[in-house]
Order: sequence, then C-alpha cells, then structure tokens
Amino acid sequence: MIAPSAPADAPVPILEVRGLSRKFGGVWALRDVSFAVAAGEVLGVIGPNGAGKTTLINLITGHLRPSGGHVLVGGIDVTKQRPWVIAHDGVARTFQIVKPFRGVTVRENVAIGAMHGNHRDRSVREALETADQILELVGITHRAGSAPSELSVADARRLELAKALACRPRLLLIDEVMAGLRPQEIESAVGLIHQLRESGITIVAVEHVMKAIISISDRIVVLHHGSILTSGTPDQVLSDPRVIEAYLGHRFARRRAT
Ligand SMILES: Nc1ncnc2c1ncn2[C@@H]1O[C@H](COP(=O)(O)OP(=O)(O)OP(=O)(O)O)[C@@H](O)[C@H]1O
Ligand SMILES: [Mg+2]
Repeated sequence: MIAPSAPADAPVPILEVRGLSRKFGGVWALRDVSFAVAAGEVLGVIGPNGAGKTTLINLITGHLRPSGGHVLVGGIDVTKQRPWVIAHDGVARTFQIVKPFRGVTVRENVAIGAMHGNHRDRSVREALETADQILELVGITHRAGSAPSELSVADARRLELAKALACRPRLLLIDEVMAGLRPQEIESAVGLIHQLRESGITIVAVEHVMKAIISISDRIVVLHHGSILTSGTPDQVLSDPRVIEAYLGHRFARRRAT
C-alpha cells in the first residue's frame, strides 16, 4: 500500500515517481528520484549524457524494472507492470533510438500504434483513418507510403512521435525528439508540442535542445549522476549556478545574459 503524498483534496497528479532507483551492476543509473506531474503540465527533463534521463523514461513505461521506488499513474501504482499494461493505461513514449516497424509503410506503422494503447481502434480501416489524421498532425502525410528506412532524420522522429500519438495517450514521454534537427525543424517540433499540450496531453520531455525545452516546459527537472540536482521554472533552473557548472557551461550562461 502506497501512502498518499498530498492532502486528500489535492488533485491527483497524472504521474508521480517516488524514490525511483535503478542500479546497473554496481552503478546507480537513477537514485531516489521523486517528482509529480500535474495533468496538462509539460515537464522538461535535462541533464548531461548518462545522467539517467532515458532510464527514467524506461522505468516509468515499464521497459525497465526499478531496483527501488514506485511509479504512480493517475494515483494508481503501476510499478513493475508490463509495458503494454502501462500503455493501455494511456501512457505512450518515443524511443531515443527510433524504433519503426520494418517492412511496413509509414502509414501502417502508425496504424499499428492505433490498434494498441488507450482507445484501441477495433478495425484496420479505423486504424488507418486514425493514422492519416496523425500523419497530418505531425506533418508527414506526404511520406505515408514510404518505408521508414527512406525517411530523413526529422521525418523519422516525426514518425516516432506519430506512433506514440496513435495510442492516444493522456501522458506522453518523449526522449530527444529534436536531436539532429535543423533550426527550422526544431521550431516546427516545438509548435507541434504546444499543439499537443493544448489538446490536453500531459508531456514529459527529455531534451538537450535548450531553446526548445525552455519554450515548451512549465517546469524543468535537472538530473545529474542519477539524482535530481534541482527543479523549478525554466528561468530558475537555467540561472542556477549548479546547473551551469554541471551541464550548461558558462558560455551558455553568458549568452543568455546578453
Ligand atoms: N542497459 C544498461 N546496462 C548498463 N548500464 C546502463 C544501461 N542503460 C543505461 N545504463 C547506464 O546508466 C546511466 C544512465 O544512462 P541513460 O541512458 O539513462 O542516460 P541519459 O541521461 O539518457 O543519457 P543521454 O543524454 O546520453 O541519452 C549511464 O551511466 C549508462 O551507461
Ligand atoms: Mg538518453
């Protein structure tokens, strides 16, 4: 039995992690991490390479089992549930290394997503219709008939996002969907995330592109060596000397100040 961490009349966070930890061999990839995300919020997660960001997503979505701690979705303890059980509960994710289904088209990739997840489409026809809507939303309708291997980096990331959206999540976890994109592509990805948020999806975004994370996040959690270094609004976090020292560097801080 997990004790509630908030007063009885407080709204239940859509996501809460409590004391979440994961050890690989003798090394803690994540250690005693706790935070909550309110429905409708966008939480940014930043930190140096190897800080534990992807591990955090893997633990929340059931792709890894924690060494300790708990994950609650909508107040329900889903710790150690299988990934598909958590997905059916309305939690979708993208993979840092994109994982399209090979041998089927972009459109079919998204349709497969639509037959899983939160509100599953029952027929192939329905799933393909959903896929068409989502391809339009993420801007790759013109690639519907392509093989995933033919896509540019930017379009492959859009497909990854489309597959996750096809599950019609209430909580979406994205892992570096902007890595390797050009400035204009980043701008369009930021616009899309704003749009998703307006449609009511709660988002946890792991991202190294600072301009993007500042623009999309209500709050940011900074991970360092598997622990939370600090958290707060983008302004609070990005002016924190510990964050500048551990992650952003002094050049970033000077650029921001001018
Ligand atoms: N399957 C694994 N087996 C062993 N060690 C792992 C495994 N997955 C992650 N780690 C280690 O855990 C730590 C955290 O890795 P993680 O991938 O979560 O970092 P990250 O913050 O996502 O980094 P990046 O910004 O490079 O994506 C690293 O030291 C990594 O080497
Ligand atoms: Mg990662």
